[in-house]
Amino acid sequence: RSECSMASESRFDCGRDRVLSQDECEERGCCYSPLPGSSGPPWCFYPSLYPGYKMSPITPTKRGQTASLTRVTPSYLPKDIFNLSLEVTEETAGCLHITLKDPSTQRYEVPLLDGIRHTKASSQNVLYTTEYQSDPFGFIVSRKSSGTIIMNTTVAPLLFADQYLQLSTSLASSFVSGLGEHYTPLILDLNWTSLSLWNRDMAPHADANLYGSHPFYIVQEDDSLAHGVFLLNSNAIEVMLQPTPALTWVSIGGILDLYIFLGPDPQSVIQQYLQIIGYPMMPPYWSLGFHLCRWGYTTTNATRMVAQHMHSANFPMDVQWNDLDYADKRRVFTFDRVRFGDLPEMVQEFHEGGMKYILILDPGISSTSPFGTYPPFEDGLKQDVFIKNATGQVLIGKVWPGPTAFPDFTNPETRQWWEDCIRDFYSEVPVDGLWIDMNEPSSFIQGSVDGCPDSELERPPYTPRVVGGQLNTGTICMSAQQKLSTHYNLHNLYGLTEADATHSALQKIRRKRPFVLSRSSFPGIGRFSGVWTGDVRSNWEQLRLSIPAVLQFSLFGVPLVGADICGFGGNTTEELCVRWMQLGAFYPFMRNHNDKPNAPQEPFVFGQAAQAAMRSVLNLRYSLLPYLYTLFHHAHTSAATVATPLFTEFPADANCRIIDQQFLWGSSLLISPVLDEGSVEVKAYLPAGTWYSLQNVSNIQHPLYSKGEYFLLPAPLETINVHVREGHIIPQQEPALTTTVSRGNAFFLTVALSASGQARGVLFWDDGDSLDTFEMENYSYLIFTAGEVGKGRDVSSDPQRLNGDLDALVLGGLQVFGVPSPPLHVLANGVEASEFTYCADSKVSFLKVETFSLIILKQQPD
Ligand code: GLC
Repeated sequence: RSECSMASESRFDCGRDRVLSQDECEERGCCYSPLPGSSGPPWCFYPSLYPGYKMSPITPTKRGQTASLTRVTPSYLPKDIFNLSLEVTEETAGCLHITLKDPSTQRYEVPLLDGIRHTKASSQNVLYTTEYQSDPFGFIVSRKSSGTIIMNTTVAPLLFADQYLQLSTSLASSFVSGLGEHYTPLILDLNWTSLSLWNRDMAPHADANLYGSHPFYIVQEDDSLAHGVFLLNSNAIEVMLQPTPALTWVSIGGILDLYIFLGPDPQSVIQQYLQIIGYPMMPPYWSLGFHLCRWGYTTTNATRMVAQHMHSANFPMDVQWNDLDYADKRRVFTFDRVRFGDLPEMVQEFHEGGMKYILILDPGISSTSPFGTYPPFEDGLKQDVFIKNATGQVLIGKVWPGPTAFPDFTNPETRQWWEDCIRDFYSEVPVDGLWIDMNEPSSFIQGSVDGCPDSELERPPYTPRVVGGQLNTGTICMSAQQKLSTHYNLHNLYGLTEADATHSALQKIRRKRPFVLSRSSFPGIGRFSGVWTGDVRSNWEQLRLSIPAVLQFSLFGVPLVGADICGFGGNTTEELCVRWMQLGAFYPFMRNHNDKPNAPQEPFVFGQAAQAAMRSVLNLRYSLLPYLYTLFHHAHTSAATVATPLFTEFPADANCRIIDQQFLWGSSLLISPVLDEGSVEVKAYLPAGTWYSLQNVSNIQHPLYSKGEYFLLPAPLETINVHVREGHIIPQQEPALTTTVSRGNAFFLTVALSASGQARGVLFWDDGDSLDTFEMENYSYLIFTAGEVGKGRDVSSDPQRLNGDLDALVLGGLQVFGVPSPPLHVLANGVEASEFTYCADSKVSFLKVETFSLIILKQQPD
């Protein structure tokens, strides 16, 4: 058949739902042509024209178009939806919204979107054009400016049955990122791979669906532009990637609800995506400090000792954590009265020392305590807050405390009960934040202690490739009932809804900025919480892949993210732990955490050289916190990224497309960590321009002039390479052992002049902990600029907004990179400064000054 003679990479699988014999394949009207090997192109695939839906004439609506689709012949799937409505909405100039749903019966839809910020699109300036094929139905979305095809769904048939929705599209290039959460490089492998999106308690490893689900991808087009696609769907999803390049979405429920973001640059794509799912929260300042945790601090005294050790060995650290050890029989909202009897006093002491305290809070509520002894469960029963099984009894699974019930956070009653539980606990133990773990939700028994009914929810006609083979492995039954819908539909939202409830409870109780760290995630979680990447192992590969893991969460609108530093599973080594602390100092969220059986990995347990390296990088991070905090402000207010992939900052530089062993902070700092055992140098790509090493590495501090090339940089164990980009000014502060102290220290500026002598930077500053300081305009915002003024050079600050707090701030000095020749005079606020130095090799000027308001560095022409 000629319609079967396409190139093998252009085949679209006609046997996704099960393995087919030749007869079965041909019965479907598909082409059968075996190939050597079992992976790779499908043997059974759609012919070039395959019957699908037929589209009625399309009619214009207020903000787009609508049409109805009809399927005349049944597909090969059970329970086809024969009639569909197509709704195309021009949300904004850069965002096109396409939904396909059943017009006659309400199907489940994700209850998500209060984050949308509409600015109505006017059809003249939209960045996209649409075309339709009416029979079989398909659509093509192109970029108006270049004609690049963004999506083309005519490449394979649309399927829409009750528990199987399938849509294929060609891709504009092979540079595709996203579709988390998986253990992958930043650029996904399109060589006939599949990625399942189903939240699962699973230590990161290849080919596994992990803790979070993010049905969003971003594609780097061939001409430096980019676009993104978001499928708003919380059912189990499998995405097939093939080298055509093309992609097929399969979801087993809900509707097809697609948002297409036209950018045109990668940063705009992310911003447009976040306009739909919500901008991230502003974290408290202290939460950007160093966090120390492990499973196995078995008493308050052991916990105290650790924190004391840290500070007496001069390691900056803000937050001490406890894992399950604190809880009485591992039950949340209790603490062990023997081993943790003085927990309230301990927390008090931390607070007096300018530190913070966080503990773990799992959602599973123990259901087997003697009557009258465990109010969270009994009150929860009374208030009817728990998820029910298919026949209406409270569903019982098993987690750390043994048998447990699971709060249903889609129920408003549950949110109130959860808040009450937190408030009661808080009245004794005034925690500063909560670590919500096991919230996929994880259960150690499949489905429930009574199993699950045999139904199409537990065993759908098609199950995406998930770890364990069934949807209910490692979690609760799919037929379990929640307020909004079945767990089958809501599973991927469990962590998101818990994070929302926890964030809101903390906000009401503490009246300060909430800190929540969640393991499970879904689009929008950045509004409430940070995320860590789960149970990574202590090895070099996991260290390397932690960078793309963190960068993916930047794309997903969760800037506050990090991996467990030094690794969670297995014993670390000293060298690995040093390198991991160095990289981890540049995770937006920095926490060292360790599993119970493992050798300790707190910084102070290592040899002097290792400790010195860790101390130095902690001080470096603390010195950069004003800059990091400012980046978080921009994430919160304009959806900018904090940890930034090179491709989003340098989209026109083709060398940046796949880099995921280096990354940026914002657009000004380039981080090039050592990721290989035994290495004392690092091969680092520097995009075109001049880069200045922030630290003195091996006493070579000369500027690096790059044409856009790789450099082999010295990277002895005691350092990490961090480069400041020309034209940028970094606000910094003298470090201290806590941010409580460092926030009172003098600021300094690192100014990296461009070739033409210019630079710019900004500082956002507020009290670091109050709610909504930006929204209530209770902050200061300064712009720093460097440039030529008359015959000299000048660095000055321009306050855009000042609040009272700023009076206390002092600028203690600045270093200027790229000063071509020794300055003759340096004036600070118009007065001749005596304390300045110039280094001819590095072209750096250092200047000590004392007031913040205006600093002028004048240099006589040579
Ligand atoms: C899970 C968490 C881990 C935690 C442990 C005990 O494995 O991912 O971080 O230490 O549970 O609570």
